Amino acid sequence: MNMVTLFFLFFFVYTTLCASVPLRYDKIISFGDSIADTGNFLHSGALTNPVIGKLPYGETFFHHATGRCSNGRLIIDFIAEEYGVPYLPSYLPVDGTLKSKAKHGINFAVAGATALDSKFFYDQGIGKALWSNDSLSTQLGWFKELKSTMCTTKKECDSYFKKSLFVMGEIGGNDYNYAFFVGGTFKDLKRMVPLVVGTIISATSMVIEEGAKDVVVPGNFPIGCWAAYLTMFGTQNKSAYDGDGCLKAHNAFSKYHNAQLKIGLEQLRQKYPQARIMYADYYGAAKALFHTPRHLGLENGGLIACCGGGGPYNFNFTARCGHEGSKACKDPSTYANWDGLHLTETAYSHIATGLLKGTFTSPPI
Ligand SMILES: *[C@@H]1O[C@H](CO)[C@@H](O)[C@H](O)[C@H]1NC(C)=O
Ligand SMILES: *[C@@H]1O[C@H](CO)[C@@H](O)[C@H](O)[C@H]1NC(C)=O
Ligand SMILES: *[C@@H]1O[C@H](CO)[C@@H](O)[C@H](O)[C@H]1NC(C)=O
Repeated sequence: MNMVTLFFLFFFVYTTLCASVPLRYDKIISFGDSIADTGNFLHSGALTNPVIGKLPYGETFFHHATGRCSNGRLIIDFIAEEYGVPYLPSYLPVDGTLKSKAKHGINFAVAGATALDSKFFYDQGIGKALWSNDSLSTQLGWFKELKSTMCTTKKECDSYFKKSLFVMGEIGGNDYNYAFFVGGTFKDLKRMVPLVVGTIISATSMVIEEGAKDVVVPGNFPIGCWAAYLTMFGTQNKSAYDGDGCLKAHNAFSKYHNAQLKIGLEQLRQKYPQARIMYADYYGAAKALFHTPRHLGLENGGLIACCGGGGPYNFNFTARCGHEGSKACKDPSTYANWDGLHLTETAYSHIATGLLKGTFTSPPI
C-alpha cells in the first residue's frame, strides 16, 4: 500500500467516524422522577408552593429555580449537551406550544413519581406519603398522546424516532423511598422489587413497540450513601457501614434491584434484537464519587448535604433544603449531595461523564 492510498484510507475512516458522532441523536425522550425532572412537578400543581420552585434550587447554573431538584444541571442536561440538543423542556404545561417545544425531544419525568401506580401505595395504606401520582403509566400515557400528534403510520413513526434517544428513568427509587421512610423492612421491600422491575421492563417494551430504537435504562443509586438515609437509618454499629461510610444493607438492596433489572433487560434484548437497549449503571457511577470524593474536588466528602437543616449529614427531615431552618452551603461544587436525596450539579456532571465517556453504560451509549 503506498502512502497516498494509506492517506485516503485514513482520511475516509477518520471522516466517517467523526462526522457521524454529532448527528447521533436529534431528540431525547425522558421518563422518570426527580433525578430527571426539568419542570413537570412544578407545573403539575401537586403542591401550591413547592421548595423546588425557589432558590437555592437552581442557584448555580440557571440562577433561578427551574423545577430541577438540584443546584444546577442534571444528568439528562449533560446528555443533551453531549448530543447538541437543547435542554429538555418539560411536557407540562400542555398548551399550544407543545408540538414545537417537543422538536428535539421532551421530558415526562416528574419529581416524586413512582414506577408503580399510586393505587399500590394506597392499598398498602401509605398513599398519603406520595408527592406525586404521575407514575410511569401516566407518563407513558402522555407520551402516546404526544406521539399521535407527531406521526401516524408505523413507517412515519419509525422515521420520526430513528435518531431519538429514550431514557427510561431513573425510576423506581421513589417506590422504595416511600416504603423505607414509613418503616418498611428489607423483607417488605424485597417483595416490591419484581413488581417495580416488571413495570420498568414493560415500559421499555412499550416504547420499543411504539418505535424506539435506542433506549437507556438506568438502575438505582447507592441510596446507602445518601445523607437522608444515613440520617434516618444511622446506627452505632460500625459494621453496618462500608469503607466509604455508606450503609451496606441499603446499598445491597439497590444492587439487588439492579441485578433484577439487568436480567429483565437481557430478556428484552432477545425479544427485540433490532433495538439497542443500554443499561446505565447509576450505582457504579455514583459510588465512585463516594469512594474518592477529594480526588474529584469534593472537598467536603461525598456524604454531607450542601443544603439542609443541620445534623451530622446536614439533613433534617423537618427542615429540608428550602424549608425554614435550612440553608445552603457556600460552595456546592465541593459537595456531592445537594439536599439529602439529590446530588449537586458537580456530582451529576461526573456521573454523566462516566455514562457517556466511561464504562458505566453497557453496551456503551
Ligand atoms: C393522588 O390521588 C389521590 C386519589 O385521587 C388524591 O387524593 C391525592 O391528593 C393525589 N396526590 C397528589 C400528590 O396529587
Ligand atoms: C451490625 O451490623 C452488621 C452488618 O449489617 C450486622 O450483621 C450485625 O448483626 C449488626 N450487629 C448488631 C449488634 O446489630
Ligand atoms: C430539625 O429541625 C427542626 C425545625 O427547624 C428543629 O426543631 C430540630 O431541632 C432539628 N433537629 C435536629 C436534630 O437538628
